[in-house]
Amino acid sequence: MQVAAVLLLLALALATPSSSAEQTCVLTGLWFNDLGSNMTIKPVNEAGEFSGTYHMAVTATSNEIKISPLRGSQHRENNSNQPTFGFTVNWSFSDATSVFVGQCFVDKHGEEILKTVWLLREQVGSLGDDWEATRVGVNVFTRQPVRRE
Ligand code: BTN
Repeated sequence: MQVAAVLLLLALALATPSSSAEQTCVLTGLWFNDLGSNMTIKPVNEAGEFSGTYHMAVTATSNEIKISPLRGSQHRENNSNQPTFGFTVNWSFSDATSVFVGQCFVDKHGEEILKTVWLLREQVGSLGDDWEATRVGVNVFTRQPVRRE
């Protein structure tokens, strides 16, 4: 009887999800953002470096959209389970470059979420046009496609 009770307690403990603070947010995998873009991040190496591909839904150009390479790194130093990271996307179909910086969180439902801020630098023809060459914004990435109205 006592053995059954211990086994029951053990099963309950294993079935209870750990709190979001203990869960680790992992960058590797497929992510979708609030603009309808998606990206795939390959496994992060020991040094925290990663690469992947970015497939976007909206562009500031009239060019045909192509999948673009990304490269980045995540912070490894304090072994945080909600690490900061940054990556660069070198757009394959325009002269622009984007950088994203953010943090990988686990929300209260145990779902991973990437909160990012980005800069998009477009190439301009002259120094005089430099002032209008950079856009800034935020993107939120989740493992499931984001529903859009
Ligand atoms: C370009 O328009 O020249 C390149 C594509 C830029 C797409 C931007 S990057 C920031 C934001 N997040 C996205 O998923 N798409 C836009």
